[in-house]
Amino acid sequence: MSKPKVFVTRKIPEPRLDRIQEDFDLEIWPDELPPPYEALMQRIPKLDGLLCLLTDRIDEDLIEAASNSLKVISQMAVGYDNIDIPAATRRSIPVGHTPGVLTDATADFAWALLMSAARRIVEADQFTRQGRWVTWGPTLLMGADITGATLGIVGLGRIGQAVAKRASGFGMRLLYYDLQRNEDAETALGIEYSDFDELLKQSDFISIHTWLSEDTHHLFGEEQFKLMKSSAILLNTARGPIVDPGALFEALADGQIAYAALDVTDPEPIPENDPLLTLDNIIIAPHIASASLKARTKMASMAVDNLLAGLKGEPLPNCVNPEIYSLP
Ligand code: DGY
Repeated sequence: MSKPKVFVTRKIPEPRLDRIQEDFDLEIWPDELPPPYEALMQRIPKLDGLLCLLTDRIDEDLIEAASNSLKVISQMAVGYDNIDIPAATRRSIPVGHTPGVLTDATADFAWALLMSAARRIVEADQFTRQGRWVTWGPTLLMGADITGATLGIVGLGRIGQAVAKRASGFGMRLLYYDLQRNEDAETALGIEYSDFDELLKQSDFISIHTWLSEDTHHLFGEEQFKLMKSSAILLNTARGPIVDPGALFEALADGQIAYAALDVTDPEPIPENDPLLTLDNIIIAPHIASASLKARTKMASMAVDNLLAGLKGEPLPNCVNPEIYSLP
């Protein structure tokens, strides 16, 4: 009998993958770049299990091309906007993801961006390397105050709450906007609920922690930047398309807002000739907020747990579409 066929779309930090070779016909995409869509399309009809990353487009056509033998799609990420979940659900294919284990790493990184933007650390490093440090200057590279400032959090899920928790040492006023109020978190974190426009008007720092969906696509556009303080700093560690990049360029170039620090862009990777890269008042990291040793190791391990459970026909420990288990 032939072994179940499993495709893993990149090398991931999980030693168990090597050990499952005995039971499965395992292919790991060897390149640093993701497999092209055509390579996925070519393989999907023969697969029993797919372990993918957020750089893989798992759309309706791809899911429709799978045979009934495909028992699991396991994504090594908490976000899954690259996967057509309704299409997977229609085919009763469970989709796994990796919530929880990257919360702290991502919140830490949002704070790293906040502090780097406020205190202009990237600019300061370049300034020094360029040999421009000729004396101590009374106004040299002056930045924004963090202590006592107002931090507005958009999306008070796990990561949003972890970001809020880290603000306690800075004596900040905390605001949040979310579709759902969370009164327990308000008490625990000392954070106030605000409507979206009021949060935009009052915050010195705005940190985005919402999912990408039709509703949040370009949630930050021309109108929103107009409402923000001219001293405001925008942080995005969620998903690039939540911010309209053209409107962000105008807002930063015209001084409607002071600074942005992004870990995610639209598109990814950001093209070398993107106008945002011509600005001094922006920091752009290559989607690495969860890239701490512990977080990435746990993400890989959870993704393999989901994969193996799905291949055995067991419920995935972390399933995005658990309703498939109660479908007739
Ligand atoms: C996720 O897991 O969705 C993150 O964006 C990966 O860093």
